[in-house]
Amino acid sequence: MEKFNIAIDGPAAAGKSTVARLVARHLGFVYVDTGAMYRAVTWKALQAGIASDNKDELVRLAGSLQIELYPGEQAQQVILDGIDVTDLIRSVAVNQNVSAVAAVPEIRRLLVLKQQEMARAKGVVMDGRDIGTHVMPDAELKIFLTASVRERAERRYLEMKDKQEEVTLEQLEKDIAERDRMDEEREASPLVRADDAVLIDTSGMSVPQVAERILELAKTAAGKGIR
Ligand code: CDP
Ligand code: CDP
Repeated sequence: MEKFNIAIDGPAAAGKSTVARLVARHLGFVYVDTGAMYRAVTWKALQAGIASDNKDELVRLAGSLQIELYPGEQAQQVILDGIDVTDLIRSVAVNQNVSAVAAVPEIRRLLVLKQQEMARAKGVVMDGRDIGTHVMPDAELKIFLTASVRERAERRYLEMKDKQEEVTLEQLEKDIAERDRMDEEREASPLVRADDAVLIDTSGMSVPQVAERILELAKTAAGKGIR
């Protein structure tokens, strides 16, 4: 089967990573979670005590970091300067600061270049906020996933309940709505559906249903039998 690229964008907890991973596995493609890169920079900035409005220091930090992504069994593994930060970058503190870091144009430029390098070989399913609009504007298939804020907060709540951190559903809903607002309103490549992206509202849909829908679209995009 010929390889091609799939861009999956959408707001927080729309199911992008879960579904992108399934679709990639099914097609034998490589899955890339670009949010993890912005999260890794944010985690390091918090460790270094750099405020999320100190743009110069943030850019300097981002330029000095070595971020490696590996397709793990369950989730994409993220290695930052040799340290496995896969779980650390999912903290509430990172959730609350990542959108400010991701709004810095120079940081976006650095990370987008790395992402485009990964997409060059084709056969990539990449998820994020600006993949269909900026990172892979020529992707053969573009998907925009969404769901109501309440449902997205409930999904995250179920995940967080298994973890050590104390967090309420209301707090998660507030954080998600604020992150969406910042991602949509920023000047540098904001979260917006590409004109040629297929919109899927996943409210009330299961993960396999969403994956199935995207695989159907991938089949059409490839113009021949993929499965
Ligand atoms: O998993 P979740 O949807 O909660 O977030 P994520 O995909 O890990 O992304 C975390 C944050 O990184 C987003 O809220 C955006 O601020 C930023 N991001 C971005 O600006 N551009 C991307 N391509 C991916 C993430
Ligand atoms: O990457 P993004 O932030 O868009 O979402 P995610 O990290 O994949 O998290 C979505 C969570 O909602 C996961 O726990 C999924 O199992 C669950 N979920 C989903 O992704 N899609 C549905 N249609 C229903 C539930």
